[in-house]
Amino acid sequence: MSAIVVLGAQWGDEGKGKATDQLGQDVDYVVKYNGGNNAGHTVVVNGQKFALHLLPAGILSENAIPVIGNGVVIDVEVLFEELDELIARGVDTSRLLVSSDAHIIPSYNKVLDAVGERFLGKRQIGTTGRGIGPTYADKMNRVGIRVQDLLDPSILQQKVEAALEQKNALLVHMYGQEPIDATTVTQELLTYVDRLRPMISNTQYLINTALDEGKTVLFEGGQATMLDIDHGTYPFVTSSSPTAGGACIGAGVGPTRIDKVIGVTKAYTTRVGEGPFPTEMHGPEGEALRERGGEYGATTGRPRRCGWFDAVVARYAVQINGLTDLVVTKLDVLSGYPVIPVCVAYEVDGQRIDHMPMDQTSFHHAKPVYEELPGWTEDITGATTFEELPANARAYIEYIEKLSGCRVSVIGNGPGREAAIVRHSLQL
Ligand code: GDP
Ligand code: IMO
Ligand code: MG
Repeated sequence: MSAIVVLGAQWGDEGKGKATDQLGQDVDYVVKYNGGNNAGHTVVVNGQKFALHLLPAGILSENAIPVIGNGVVIDVEVLFEELDELIARGVDTSRLLVSSDAHIIPSYNKVLDAVGERFLGKRQIGTTGRGIGPTYADKMNRVGIRVQDLLDPSILQQKVEAALEQKNALLVHMYGQEPIDATTVTQELLTYVDRLRPMISNTQYLINTALDEGKTVLFEGGQATMLDIDHGTYPFVTSSSPTAGGACIGAGVGPTRIDKVIGVTKAYTTRVGEGPFPTEMHGPEGEALRERGGEYGATTGRPRRCGWFDAVVARYAVQINGLTDLVVTKLDVLSGYPVIPVCVAYEVDGQRIDHMPMDQTSFHHAKPVYEELPGWTEDITGATTFEELPANARAYIEYIEKLSGCRVSVIGNGPGREAAIVRHSLQL
């Protein structure tokens, strides 16, 4: 039995999709455990670029069974669109399984996401507008619509009516919108049933049975540690649990079954949307890094905010997730910088601290304490072993390892599936 979690160690877009895709070549199941089509994973296979949102990156591996776990929220229209795009490009998507317990994003929650953000004005989160927050809120409020509800039209109608009773009051009285008709929504959802039915599965049972049989299961997290609803920079977070514990809840496996937790981090830092970001570079420096790294969101196309590597965040991610390995991506992007600053601690109101501050105000006030490391000029894109890297690039990785307290097992030096230097195998 082996169960491996792959998750984001920063604010998202670390290259999780690529890491999962690489590992997915050798695993039996790839299970997405949280989030929805707010995620955007770009995976490059044989020079062909694939942009995945809702589907687990395992969909691109030839043998693994891709699974959408119970912790995911599904926009069924988007799911079908994504499947159709892949099918048109010759990808076999027939193995996909969807948990009967996963929640559906009904169209009204996309409306509520958009008007909710407008209502917040200056305090907005900068969500992806995909209805993620309102759908997780419905789940917790116990007025959510689940995949299995689509199999029973009268139950579905009752649930949609119950949900809309609250939402229409909000839409009409608070947001000045037109009310939404429950029957129209129910009929729209029912149009998906025939295509969805063969994919619907008791995924918790299936995954646990697979582990019992000695199969390898990879749990793929969307978003990242700093966007976690509990452990991230609340309220500037997503509404799910991308951290390692979320894999247990969002897939239905016990913590004792997890063997490895792999955190993916960029060699620098990016963030999309609002919220604190201590090492953010404003102005031309940040723009230069954005251009070098091609830092534009795969989901919304928004420019990503860019900054240097933050070891306080890395240490926090190691702690919160119990990371066993780090994958450091995009090291190639740093080639050519004469010196590379690394944030080793924060200064908060005159005090130096080397861990995450207790409260939001302190984090907003945190000023990075930098150490500067010498850079390298060589292009490292073709390197296949750690020894081939310039001495300063090796020293940079070794310093990240020391600062974070976790071994760096894989280094990304290009977008392609093959562009990775493996120091320690991620397989068990
Ligand atoms: P995810 O959401 O964590 O899967 O990451 P995204 O796909 O949103 O963003 C990561 C981007 O970096 C994608 O465009 C990848 O193709 C690219 N990428 C991943 N690893 C590397 C790497 O090592 N070097 C370079 N240059 N690009 C990479
Ligand atoms: P991947 O999986 C980066 C951010 C949004 C916003 C906040 C809340 O590609 O790493 P939401 O729509 O989830 O309610 O938005 O979270 N966000 C992401 N940022 N990568 C992602 O996914 C993200 N998913 C959500 O920009 O700030
Ligand atoms: Mg992404």
